[in-house]
Amino acid sequence: MPPDLVAKAAAARENAIATYSGFKVGAALEAKDGRIYTGCNVENVSYGLTVCAERVALWKALSEGVREFTRIAIVTDAPVATPPCGACRQILWEYCGDIPVHLHSLRQIDEYYQLADLLPHPFDRF
Ligand code: THU
Repeated sequence: MPPDLVAKAAAARENAIATYSGFKVGAALEAKDGRIYTGCNVENVSYGLTVCAERVALWKALSEGVREFTRIAIVTDAPVATPPCGACRQILWEYCGDIPVHLHSLRQIDEYYQLADLLPHPFDRF
């Protein structure tokens, strides 16, 4: 995966509003036409209304009419690679399908997955 997607996720991470957890996340989602949509986590005093970086990126793209995606990069500064939460896996699966997922930590950690490996037995349209 070219480093530009990680760089854009890292830049988005700088905008994270992680007031309560202190854990900043950035995501960069590539559309089929090559455009890149970024997101960061946005926390809220009620905690439960927090939105993850991955979903912010996806909402931005979907709200601009984009429907086809090719890959996503997610950046943190954790000591281990941190895959997307369960809710984000489900949402990404629904709108992006089985895309490659690049997990990058600023501590020079990289892991690569397919979304299907992170979300076995998904709930799908029936
Ligand atoms: N977070 C994300 O943005 N993406 C994930 O995949 C996991 C968690 C955020 C939510 C919260 O703001 C912080 O990280 C700590 O859980």
